[in-house]
Amino acid sequence: MKRPIAELVGTGRCTPEKVLSNADLEKMVDTNDQWIVERTGIRERRISSPEETIAVMGKAACEQVMQDAGVTVDEIDRIIVGTASPDRLLPSQACDLQASLGAKNAAAMDVEAACSGFIYGLTMAEGMIATGEAKNILVVGAERLSTITDYTDRATCILFGDGVGATLVRPSQGDRGILSTYIKSDGNLANLLYRPGGGGAHPIDQDVVNDRSHFISMAGREVFRYAVRAMADACDQALSAAGLTAEDIDVMIPHQANIRIIEATAKHAGMPMEKVYVNVDRYGNTSAASIPIALDECVRDGLVKPGSKVLLVAFGGGFTWGSIVVQW
Ligand code: ACO
Repeated sequence: MKRPIAELVGTGRCTPEKVLSNADLEKMVDTNDQWIVERTGIRERRISSPEETIAVMGKAACEQVMQDAGVTVDEIDRIIVGTASPDRLLPSQACDLQASLGAKNAAAMDVEAACSGFIYGLTMAEGMIATGEAKNILVVGAERLSTITDYTDRATCILFGDGVGATLVRPSQGDRGILSTYIKSDGNLANLLYRPGGGGAHPIDQDVVNDRSHFISMAGREVFRYAVRAMADACDQALSAAGLTAEDIDVMIPHQANIRIIEATAKHAGMPMEKVYVNVDRYGNTSAASIPIALDECVRDGLVKPGSKVLLVAFGGGFTWGSIVVQW
């Protein structure tokens, strides 16, 4: 097993106050609690208020991380934010977060890899540590998917929620840290999960608004099929790169998209469900934020503790996917 170059230290999360339950959704679209629970495992999700921006929630999450890690805001030299639903399109979400934190010594940047954004961000951070260019990198997964969700489309609006999770990546000081990373994408499958309008190809105008094409559009069944295959492959790749097997892993934290995707991925990866962390019932799919929110819960609840070997795995629009093995 290689000696880790970079370690994760400290975790934090911030989720909105407002809970949107399946019963609430029954009043908005033609759906019902039983269908949603059976098909997705989701019971409720958090929805941000206009004041609960990513810059605001991200500040709270990052301050927890810095407190855990024992670093000051002036020591932060990079901020990487994985998001597909930034507060605004220019500047980057990371720059707005930098300003809200007052992290004046950092360079800040976004990574757009949809639900895999946190895994991509950690991978980039490890590289920055390896070159010696940075020493304290905040890696954040942050979404307000409610702002890009069509609440007249029952196929998508039941799935998504808002929230932010974060960690700090720094040079490894021993055996703990990132043991392996694996990332992959396939842009040929972009149109199975995307926002057709509102970008440069179809700038926002009355037609885009009338068609509601600035919202997420998804071919759910195809996404499901690819997600299971790609996440299972990513687990295999990251485990073998770390010289480990599923039996060596203490906790698996998969992207929280759908309980059926999580169960199928765990089965392919040979991971018993007792080792798999699930909170999709409480938050729905928070895309890039789902893994860092779950990681923070695992650490604070003592499920992930010093020495734990943790397998993180994600899949999302792009398509993008990836996996990381970390020793806590
Ligand atoms: N309530 C009630 N009925 C519904 C709802 C709803 N909210 N949504 C769809 N239906 C109906 C459909 O209209 C369809 O009816 P029909 O048979 O009369 O045509 C029926 O339910 C079955 O629809 P499917 O889309 O085939 O249902 P499926 O079992 O595939 O479940 C779901 C849909 C939950 C979206 C599933 O495909 C899924 O989870 N896909 C993965 C998508 C995902 O997680 N995307 C997130 C981003 S990517 C990622 O994070 C992995």
